[in-house]
Amino acid sequence: MRLTRYFLPVLKENPAEAQIVSHRYMLRAGMIKQQAAGIYSWLPMGFKVLKRIEQIVHEEQIRAGHIPLLMPTLQPADLWRESGRYDDYGQEMLRIKDRHDRDMLYGPTNEEMITDIFRSHVGSYKDLPLTLYHIQWKFRDEVRPRFGVMRGREFLMKDGYNFDVDKAAALHAYNRHMVSYLRTYERMGLTAIPMRAASGPIGGDNTHEFLVLAATGESEVFYDSAVTDLKLGQREVDFDDRDQVKAICDEFTTLYARTDETHDAALFDAVPEERRKVGRGIEVGQIFYFGTKYSEAMGANVVTADGSRVPVEMGSHGIGVSRLLGAIIEASHDDKGIIWPEGVTPFHAGIVNLKQGDTATDAACDAIYKALKAKGLDPLYDDRDERAGAKFATMDLIGLPWRVTVGPRGLANGVVELTSRRTGVSEELTAEAAVARLAEIYADW
Ligand SMILES: Nc1ncnc2c1ncn2[C@@H]1O[C@H](COP(=O)(O)OP(=O)(O)OP(=O)(O)O)[C@@H](O)[C@H]1O
Ligand SMILES: [Mg+2]
Repeated sequence: MRLTRYFLPVLKENPAEAQIVSHRYMLRAGMIKQQAAGIYSWLPMGFKVLKRIEQIVHEEQIRAGHIPLLMPTLQPADLWRESGRYDDYGQEMLRIKDRHDRDMLYGPTNEEMITDIFRSHVGSYKDLPLTLYHIQWKFRDEVRPRFGVMRGREFLMKDGYNFDVDKAAALHAYNRHMVSYLRTYERMGLTAIPMRAASGPIGGDNTHEFLVLAATGESEVFYDSAVTDLKLGQREVDFDDRDQVKAICDEFTTLYARTDETHDAALFDAVPEERRKVGRGIEVGQIFYFGTKYSEAMGANVVTADGSRVPVEMGSHGIGVSRLLGAIIEASHDDKGIIWPEGVTPFHAGIVNLKQGDTATDAACDAIYKALKAKGLDPLYDDRDERAGAKFATMDLIGLPWRVTVGPRGLANGVVELTSRRTGVSEELTAEAAVARLAEIYADW
């Protein structure tokens, strides 16, 4: 993409309404525009990152054996009357009437609808295990929408639902989700710690939240600092292997890590003092096992191997897809702007032309642009007729992890400059070597 042909409405001033850095940078970098409290348009660069995050979520869900589908945003109230949640959900639910005076709602989550799909089509243990998920917009009429996409009213969520014949199988599904989430967040450059949580309106007693440590997080967290060193990394996971998957969950949930809702001072005191940490975290996901809460209420039964009919065992599992943009920026920025991790960056590299209109410099930039595209990379070429300082400021603000700077002086010596946004370290090398280096860096992503 050439910047002169793109739509990147960068703001010079700090928007007064933004209280935290991720909200400020998303507005300044032209990623989102607020349309009403907690409701945003996703401008091209914000949309691009959102799609990259979605893609990672899809890949890791499919890797774990989970199946994508798509349910609507609007739901009939009757389904929610069956589970009893139509009245319980309260004012967070946006209730709508259609022209026939039928009660509808904008879904805040989808347990009822997925249970309805299941009971309409599945009746035998032979069709289990089954995990269905979608990535769809949700609406919750939050009392205090704030911090930009972090606490929106309309927000994008991945929500998945497992159906299993017995509790052991459902707990395996729970563990499978935990492991798939660990890899999902790591690919986004995040350390998200699974913490034992309280269940809220979804119900059930087995639940973990995934928290990204950040001073601006809304949850208070208590943890053993050793949990932050745990990494899933590239290890092979066989998602059908119950023992292996459980062993990974044990590895990640044995050290003390809880939110204020489940914090236990006595257990925390047993953590060695120098590792005892109190901080704040952003909830980027949550998994629940709730057994037969919905299947019993809604008559979703399966016939087991011995011929009996039992309510199907279930759980639900969410990732805050749109909130993740905010969480990633909170975890990765400096005073000049965003620093995108390679896994989610909107463009792989920026090309800065220091002398727009100079024939040799323009030609060198074009050649690098084409060479990067030929390697399957997606560059953003700042081809505006602007001062170098303004171009650097834009690149720093929008946070592409790598920048190739091209100017007449370097070209006279046969070199361009490759700069890491994270470290600020620059290196002079030939244009070909810069392209090869970038291809090598992104081969791992
Ligand atoms: N208002 C919101 N705006 C953006 N993302 C949200 C919002 N509410 C929930 N999410 C995301 O969706 C995920 C799954 O939803 P869940 O039902 O667990 O939310 P929740 O526990 O009610 O969230 P919170 O405690 O932050 O209100 C959450 O972990 C979070 O990342
Ligand atoms: Mg939650």
